[in-house]
Amino acid sequence: MTTPSIDLKQYIRGIPDFPKPGILFYDISTLMRNADAWQIAMGRLTAAVAPWSVDVLAAIESRGFLTAAPLASRLGCGLVMLRKPGKLPGETISYDYDLEYGKDSLHIQADAIVPGQRVVVMDDLLATGGTLAASIALLRKVGAEVVGAATLIELTGLGGRDRLDVPVKTLVAYDD
Ligand code: PRP
Ligand code: MG
Repeated sequence: MTTPSIDLKQYIRGIPDFPKPGILFYDISTLMRNADAWQIAMGRLTAAVAPWSVDVLAAIESRGFLTAAPLASRLGCGLVMLRKPGKLPGETISYDYDLEYGKDSLHIQADAIVPGQRVVVMDDLLATGGTLAASIALLRKVGAEVVGAATLIELTGLGGRDRLDVPVKTLVAYDD
């Protein structure tokens, strides 16, 4: 059994020039495929999020699904999906936001949240913070009390945390 004091960075692979030249992509595939390291990562994330007394975790498509689902199971709370357009059945509410080039949109089922529920939004990685900021805005549109955001990885050099008006917990930070 791997010791609980492991450095998770040993299991996260940096792939240069993906998906385009100049971008260093932090790949969690190598963390997830190691059973012990993934268990430890999910245990640490659970410990970080538990004090917020969560009713529901909101998982951002697609890599946010990977962190949120195991956490909801460990915390014993609900799980809702924030999805890209055209994926969710039934009535949905959307939030449009700007990317560096172009626009994007996230959707939630209109009845996913009971107004006032304590919601934590989950993703794999915090970069510019645009995705989490849009997710928080969308959740507030449907009445959520957003009490925090959590990711495995934070790219601290991009200042994403400063764009968010909720407490943020991350496990691993890179400043390059
Ligand atoms: C990546 C990552 C986060 C987001 C972070 O998702 O998984 O969701 O970018 O960037 P930001 O803080 O600058 O908004 P991506 O759009 O690549 O999609 P995926 O999760 O479906 O792979
Ligand atoms: Mg993503």
